[in-house]
Amino acid sequence: MRRWPWLLVGLVTACSSSTPLPPITEEGSAADTSVLVTTTAADGTTIAADRADERNDLVDKYIAARDIEDPIVVQAMREVPRHHFVPAELAEQAYRDSALPIGHGQTISQPYIVALMSDALDVGPGDKVLEIGTGSGYQAAVLAAMGCEVFTMEIIPELASGAQRALSNLGYAATVVNADGYFGWEEHAPFDGIIVTAAPDHVPQPLIDQLGEDAALVIPVGPIGAVQTMWRFNRDDTGQIIGQNLGPVLFVPFTRAEE
Ligand SMILES: C[S@@+](CC[C@H](N)C(=O)[O-])C[C@H]1O[C@@H](n2cnc3c(N)ncnc32)[C@H](O)[C@@H]1O
Repeated sequence: MRRWPWLLVGLVTACSSSTPLPPITEEGSAADTSVLVTTTAADGTTIAADRADERNDLVDKYIAARDIEDPIVVQAMREVPRHHFVPAELAEQAYRDSALPIGHGQTISQPYIVALMSDALDVGPGDKVLEIGTGSGYQAAVLAAMGCEVFTMEIIPELASGAQRALSNLGYAATVVNADGYFGWEEHAPFDGIIVTAAPDHVPQPLIDQLGEDAALVIPVGPIGAVQTMWRFNRDDTGQIIGQNLGPVLFVPFTRAEE
């Protein structure tokens, strides 16, 4: 497992679709690409060109050029076709560094945030990772592309089934369940990393309890509709839980099954 440097990251960015972000220059186009994805979308729509040029452009400008250093994360971001995880009408915008709506009031996270959280998780090939908040399945695909064994939980049934379809169609091995992730997934614990992509107002204790040795929990915590704080928690040598503040973020709320 790679060591995460104990640096505080000055982060002011957003996961929801509400914060305007500067558009990137559209230098690539589907017509420029030569590699095609050979799967068929679940809804029967025509599969677009792989758009590797646009993806590489995004990664070069907004991920590799910033503070994301883990080559496994950068490579996964270059590989995973984000346009297959967004609604067809938004596919053209898939390689902007911004969150996009995916229906049901939810969003696919900004690519930079996906890379930042994957980096902070400090996992690699063979590590077992739990994601809470499957959404589109894109973050799960990035973790799978990093070689992780991925378990992911989504509270909205339609999103869980859509993500499962998208992941299967593209050949990413991830186990998706429709459930409230507050309690984690005891059956598969302990995990080498746990990532939460919606913001609760406190850290769910079951997620701390399901962290394996040297594992990290990366989670935004804070009030609904206000700026939250991205935290990375892990155990020190004495078993104490230590939190590292990764900076301010804005995520969709962590909801509960009874709400
Ligand atoms: C910002 S979106 C996640 C983006 C996702 N990781 C992706 O790559 O598309 C947050 C997701 O968390 C889900 N969510 C919120 N509370 C949850 C809970 N208690 N358990 C599981 N999923 C939850 C939401 O339904 C939403 O799909």
